[in-house]
Amino acid sequence: MSASSPTHKIAIYPGTFDPITHGHIDVIERASKLFDEVIVTVAQNISKTPIFSANERISIVQEVTKEFKNVKVEKFDGLLVDFAVKNKANAIIRGLRAVSDFEFEFQMALFNRKLKPEIITVFLMPHEKYTYLNSSVVREIAKFGGQIDHFVPPFVEQKLKEKLSKK
Ligand code: COA
Repeated sequence: MSASSPTHKIAIYPGTFDPITHGHIDVIERASKLFDEVIVTVAQNISKTPIFSANERISIVQEVTKEFKNVKVEKFDGLLVDFAVKNKANAIIRGLRAVSDFEFEFQMALFNRKLKPEIITVFLMPHEKYTYLNSSVVREIAKFGGQIDHFVPPFVEQKLKEKLSKK
């Protein structure tokens, strides 16, 4: 099936991924089973100040998702819906972990729908064992030398240690 075919379903999964966690990977795996192609889109210019550069986050995400053959990773800047249209994506994937995610996600989905009604936001629930996870807590635990192997793959743990030892 060619990538421009209407039956070839492409989804984008946007985020900061600073760093990518098991929770994100769980969502990526679920999305890869639902769509023909998933583009993990790593946000570059965001209000957050990431510990890893955009290029570092991309290569880390590439490494830990390489087992999923229909997943690719790209950097994005600007409006998410513009990136989706440019890449012929039909859907935006977002993970919903808890009720607290809902308000922000609902607002973002409605804004994106207003901007580009043809792009559908799809919410996926990661495994419940990851519902409390987020990247800032992982960074904080790593900063204070705590164990993060339950939250991120060994490759991410290693990169985080290297990064923090330089700071
Ligand atoms: N497992 C673990 N953590 C998860 C998770 C999951 N399944 N899903 C979300 N998170 C965490 C992230 O780690 C992050 O935690 P942190 O804040 O502690 O770092 C938090 O939830 C939210 O992160 P994320 O889902 O990556 O969203 P984001 O806020 O970093 O990125 C963009 C949001 C980039 C997608 C959004 O701002 C955007 O689209 N920007 C482009 C500009 C645009 O189009 N704006 C209009 C949008 S309406």
